[in-house]
Amino acid sequence: MILRYDFGHPYDTGALVEQLPVSDGPVPHFTVSRKDAQVSFSVPLGEEDMIFGLGQAVRGLNKRGHRYRAWNSDDFSHTEDKASLYGSHNLLLFTGRDGVWGAYFDDPGAVTFDLGYTRSDEAVITSENGDLSVYIIEGDSLTDLVKQFRRVIGKPYLPPKWGMGYIQSRWGYVTADDLREVVRGHREKHIPLDTVSMDIDYMDDFRDFTWDAKKFPDLKAFTDELRADHIRVMPIMDAGVKLHPGDSTFDAGMEKGYFCKKADGETFVGAVWPGKAVFPDFLREEVRQWFGDCYRPMLEAGVEAIWNDMNEPAIFYSVEGLQAAYDKADSLRGGNIGVYDYFDLKDAFTGMSNSMADYRRFYHIIGGKPVNHEKVHNLYGAMMTKATAQGMKAVRPGKRPLLFSRSSFIGAHRDGGIWQGDNFAWWSHILLNLKELASLNMVGFLFNGADLGGFGANTTEDLVLRWLQLGVFTPIMRNHAAMGTRDQEVYRFRNWETMRDVLGVRYALLLYLYSELVKAAETDGMMFRPLAFDYADDEVACRTEDQLMLGDAAMIAPVYEQNARGRHVYLPEDMLLVRFRSAEDYDLVPMEKGHHWVTLQMSEFPLFIRRGHVIPMAKAAEYVAGVDASRLTLLGWIESDTAITLYDDDGESDTIDLAAGLTEITVTVKDGQATAEAEGKTLDATRIVIG
Ligand code: NOJ
Repeated sequence: MILRYDFGHPYDTGALVEQLPVSDGPVPHFTVSRKDAQVSFSVPLGEEDMIFGLGQAVRGLNKRGHRYRAWNSDDFSHTEDKASLYGSHNLLLFTGRDGVWGAYFDDPGAVTFDLGYTRSDEAVITSENGDLSVYIIEGDSLTDLVKQFRRVIGKPYLPPKWGMGYIQSRWGYVTADDLREVVRGHREKHIPLDTVSMDIDYMDDFRDFTWDAKKFPDLKAFTDELRADHIRVMPIMDAGVKLHPGDSTFDAGMEKGYFCKKADGETFVGAVWPGKAVFPDFLREEVRQWFGDCYRPMLEAGVEAIWNDMNEPAIFYSVEGLQAAYDKADSLRGGNIGVYDYFDLKDAFTGMSNSMADYRRFYHIIGGKPVNHEKVHNLYGAMMTKATAQGMKAVRPGKRPLLFSRSSFIGAHRDGGIWQGDNFAWWSHILLNLKELASLNMVGFLFNGADLGGFGANTTEDLVLRWLQLGVFTPIMRNHAAMGTRDQEVYRFRNWETMRDVLGVRYALLLYLYSELVKAAETDGMMFRPLAFDYADDEVACRTEDQLMLGDAAMIAPVYEQNARGRHVYLPEDMLLVRFRSAEDYDLVPMEKGHHWVTLQMSEFPLFIRRGHVIPMAKAAEYVAGVDASRLTLLGWIESDTAITLYDDDGESDTIDLAAGLTEITVTVKDGQATAEAEGKTLDATRIVIG
């Protein structure tokens, strides 16, 4: 049951697809208080209570003990002290002695979540503008709460099947030849690859919707050439449009009045990669329509995938902010400045980026009236993604585009995926990748993944290898790095063969992973779950922060520590360890419920399969279309007959018929041997352990 309570004048954020009636009376669970415009919701916390949710955020799966702020932020340093990252996913799930319940705060402005930070025995959620709908979710398990929530926010976006193939990216591939070299590097060594991405370097002077004719003389011929090799290209698109009279996007947007304006009616100007830029008012349907149409020439030149960036929106500085900093410097010039003046001077420059002063400087038009950006900030990226999805579907009707964004809000999960933004080549960020994976599943962003190998800082070959071993399971599997960092394409490393074998496992498991993704999306389920969701009565499982359940049958537990040759794993029930070295070479080790040290050499990584279940695996392939779905090996540990269903389809039509796509695989055990059957498939059941 979900109950809705309104405060102030809530905006229609589009997060929900189902309109719920507004309830009267007190909000269950919370004590509501007001101070000026703010509305706060507080609830006492019992010693054992845990809080899940918040989607993209730092720290634990259990969010208790820190303070978060929903405020979409361009922040490349995901350290533990951060309150905000790129998306706002305001769902909390409480679980403790008094049962489970959830709350969703549908507010496009800033919301703070003090989850046992000020007082460890209290959670206080504060809407800074006081205009919001609060949804209280009552249910009987964490999984049930998510299911109910997901039903009202609508089905998640699904990528084309090839979108789950490996993506190689780098900020710094400048020309078509640079990309050709990346493709060659993979193909020559038989390293799997489906997509190469194009970062801002492909543009002409960082202007949206352009490509530099010197770097890409014939984009159509280039995309055709790569397609013949089963490779797609994925250009980036930035929210800010270069202020550049003569540029067709800038001119058209100015003429139609589609860019955000200040109170005095002048167009707001902020600087991003192209220098001075203007910001489309994505909150207006006609602007989304127009911006979405701008992708057409590039899509007609064979582009089938897009990633949207800098759409929090990121603003390096505004004309006003820069002037204020110059003024500050002028006022202090020549003086003997003391320490506080020095700090002020420094802050005047470092504080120019993504400043609140700038976010308050411009307006959107909503319902014909100007609304200050601050009130609806967290919707901006989501509305850009909506525009892009519309534009891509218009060019290829009936087909699923590959699309992911950096900034997001609930609702955008219906239009695209998200990547986890600018992480670092740090071991701790493998674990953050894992945690966000599950938390994002709760709020509908099933198609997500992190920059494998790390975006910022120089990576190392052991870190890339271990991170790829987690990436095998993440729906977006992309290696991406920042300009100026060490090369991290697989083929550049001494141990490239080991990395290639890891990628081989991804392709061998692709049909299974795709099936789990589609099933979770279509049934309001989570492809990845904290163990607390499945083993609510098991205290150790509930507090486990570095393992996740995958689908119905499996569990993942990556190695995320430097120099480790294994890890501690807690098995909440009997499971089969599959210790992978490659898609052909792996050990099967039945293990009993309990604590284990699992040895994992650098080339080895685990997948655990619950006893009584089997999972299908194909042979490794070099691209998704090369995966042979007709020959499958089954892995598992079973005592008696069992059955599983595997979903498959053409991998690109945008109408999904779950029932029609399911194939049942039945496994029969007789005289200590397993045999398997499924229509249209040759099945090898010799890797099933009986007992
Ligand atoms: C920021 C993005 O997060 C990153 O992935 C990208 O490489 C840079 N912008 C440059 O476009």
